[in-house]
Amino acid sequence: MSRAEADIPVATAFSAQALRAQFPALDQQVNGKPLAYLDNAATTQKPRAVIDRISDYYARDNANVHRAIHELSRRATEAYEGARDTLARFIGAGRREEIVFTRGTTDAINLVAQGYLAPRLKAGDEIVVSEIEHHSNIVPWQMLCESHGAILRVAPVDDRGVLDLAALQRLIGPRTVMVAVGQVSNALGTVHPVQQIIDMAHAADVPVLVDGAQSVSHLPVDVSTLNADFFCFSAHKMFGPTGTGVLYGREALLDSMSPVQGGGDMIETVSFQGSTWNSLPYKFEAGTPNIAGVIGMGAATEFLEGLDLEAVYRHEHALAERAEAGMRAIPGLRIIGEAPGKTGIISFVMQTAHAQDVGTILDQMGVATRTGHHCAMPAMARFGVPATTRASFACYNTEADVDALLAGLDKVSSLLG
Ligand code: ALA
Repeated sequence: MSRAEADIPVATAFSAQALRAQFPALDQQVNGKPLAYLDNAATTQKPRAVIDRISDYYARDNANVHRAIHELSRRATEAYEGARDTLARFIGAGRREEIVFTRGTTDAINLVAQGYLAPRLKAGDEIVVSEIEHHSNIVPWQMLCESHGAILRVAPVDDRGVLDLAALQRLIGPRTVMVAVGQVSNALGTVHPVQQIIDMAHAADVPVLVDGAQSVSHLPVDVSTLNADFFCFSAHKMFGPTGTGVLYGREALLDSMSPVQGGGDMIETVSFQGSTWNSLPYKFEAGTPNIAGVIGMGAATEFLEGLDLEAVYRHEHALAERAEAGMRAIPGLRIIGEAPGKTGIISFVMQTAHAQDVGTILDQMGVATRTGHHCAMPAMARFGVPATTRASFACYNTEADVDALLAGLDKVSSLLG
């Protein structure tokens, strides 16, 4: 179903300030200062609509899905399956059956690794990733390589954090069985050219998994246009609850996959002679799912459908540019990752202060950032740093948040410079 068919209002003007009113957590003081929440790449805040939808489900409709004929179970099932329709529409999936609910991006990638690739993988086969992937798009493949004698090939990035496409092209060869890339790097904000990567891989008959954890709430995504084979993301980074997410897979590929978890709901028949599997997507949703989480993810998706994601991208990018212009004036501050067109993610180090100390002083100023390796140790190694401080923007951030960050960094300089 297209957006027009669903008759979903699309915001024509974009006002971050107006959006803030929908997010109760943003309206608070931290350490005596107004909160500037700049840790959105780790998790976003939740709008009232999501909080209320989850609370209403528990208050009125709580029951298991797909199981009973009573009214509450009917309502719970309708809301749960309704979320699947919403998610399918949001990412442009051709069919609702292509939306598998998972615990999140990590769970989704592991499902593809174990359910799709493991049964096909032979010694000497190759899996291609980029140098700046999140650990969740490295380690599941690495584990497969170790168990099957396969090889992980790594496409490099340049000093700005831009993927070397020619190198990636050279890595795709007769033994390549999967290309797995993030659409947006969580550590650097680089937007990988996934359309080109998919076209390149498909020309060699290689399927592509796209980790969309850092993209779906920051720029428009349409899996059908991209022609992605697998696309996965987490609800909690798109204004929904933790513990739930989506694996989109092309129907033919999902059909060809084995279930990874056995149990209730994923079967068609069970006997001691053997069991048969339920249809898509249920064969991958064993056990009672995270019903409230999925319903909350549906509400978060409706919130996102009300935004113009092109405008969101431009807004976050502009905030990052404003912040980076201020940061370049701070002596000893080095921005890690300067890919053109990156999203609103800024990783940086300061000559005179450890990332942990920077984050601590920023927190004292009410500015929430993340410090560490951001689950991307190879990306840190590429740039020769053990850790960075990372500020990451979402649609509700404003210039006031940027100013708070810059004031916080001035404080760091004055205390530790
Ligand atoms: N993957 C999340 C981050 O980048 C946790 O912070």
